[in-house]
Amino acid sequence: MIQLVIGSQWGDEGKGKVVDMMAQNAHMVVRFHGGNNAGHTVVINGKKFPFHLIPSGILQKKPVVIIADGVVIDPDVLLEEMAIFEKMGINLKKKLVISPRCHLIMPYHKELDQAYENARGKNKLGTTKRGIGPVYADKVSYNGIRIYELLNWPLFVEKFKFQAAIKNKILITFGVSPIKVETYLPIFKKLAEKIRPMIDDTFSLFQKAIQQKKQILLEGAHGVMLDNSFGLYPYVTASNVIEGGVNIGSGIPSKKIEEIWGVVKAYTSRVGGGPLPTELFDKVADVIREKGYEYGTTTGRPRRIGWLDLAAVKFACQLSSINRIAITKIDILSGLSQIKVCLGYRLNGKKIAFSQCGYQELEKLTPVYKNFSGWKEDISKIKSFNKLPKNCQKYVKFIEKYLDVKVKIISVSPERKASIFL
Ligand code: IMP
Repeated sequence: MIQLVIGSQWGDEGKGKVVDMMAQNAHMVVRFHGGNNAGHTVVINGKKFPFHLIPSGILQKKPVVIIADGVVIDPDVLLEEMAIFEKMGINLKKKLVISPRCHLIMPYHKELDQAYENARGKNKLGTTKRGIGPVYADKVSYNGIRIYELLNWPLFVEKFKFQAAIKNKILITFGVSPIKVETYLPIFKKLAEKIRPMIDDTFSLFQKAIQQKKQILLEGAHGVMLDNSFGLYPYVTASNVIEGGVNIGSGIPSKKIEEIWGVVKAYTSRVGGGPLPTELFDKVADVIREKGYEYGTTTGRPRRIGWLDLAAVKFACQLSSINRIAITKIDILSGLSQIKVCLGYRLNGKKIAFSQCGYQELEKLTPVYKNFSGWKEDISKIKSFNKLPKNCQKYVKFIEKYLDVKVKIISVSPERKASIFL
């Protein structure tokens, strides 16, 4: 069986925990897009494990974890994460597979990301500055360098020098110091030697696994609202976050995916710029941010907070055929006297759908809210739906009805075991 987990909002929905739980039974856990702009945290016995590149399933015994074709790799980050897991006694030669089609984040990509942001000034997008936009731009304009080239050292050096000469001209225009290829060659050499045993034809591995009816878990990064085509461009990321991104980023046909899990955080958060219709600027936002520790896993930036935007989540469900919901961080709402959810928008008094909005419309519209009474109890140890406070049950039931998708998991604390299964 093939399962996909995707974020239905602006990222940071708590996918890491959901993937980690589901990975127990999987033979393969696969990342198929994005890079170390993503950040997933798994908490085991009070200890936090932040991930950026290596799939979250690495901490489970059974699965092999795969970095598939659509992922972009920063050599420093991959080496660093590999070292952490090796120190924990994980045999990566048996546990990790990397596709040769993955593109490399080169030093000039990070410099360019930063330089573009600086040049945008007050209109900056708020990227993670990990070089994500520039590396995907090089990929689609045939200027990328992949793991495939890295494994052929003279070819890699030739390509690196050629690209660096061009990118340095752009960097100089931005007033940024050019990069020196020689400075970076040792790190790439180290990466090449280190990952050589882990490189494999992931397409064939997936085909074989599909034939053998093995369990494949696809771990989405970011959230649907950040999708390059369907998110609020240009306040998006550079990859395809939606269900179709699986085929593009792994070669696994979308038709083979049986379960598409949408992870819905019980409220909204966002890092970076762009409109956020339900954004809160009052004390409630501070309470949620502190209680939910809403600071970026990747950048440490405080996240913007808002009420749950169900109109946007419904759009995500429809776009990606989401057929199962995991609600996360609902415990963070305990103690609020009133909770709101957004069911639609009005622009100049008229109804407008999320899909009709560009960022200029979204900045101006008024959300239409439904109010819910809150609950006071600590719910972090509750194991069954019926034991949840009645108002919390009502909140969950409403989400399910509105989205017309079954809620299957409710996560009530960061701990691996703290979830209610329905
Ligand atoms: P980039 O992906 O670094 O280019 O950033 C583009 C936008 O996507 C920025 O607003 C980032 O904050 C946002 N973003 C990228 N990845 C994530 C994620 O995993 N969680 C939340 N926001 C993200």
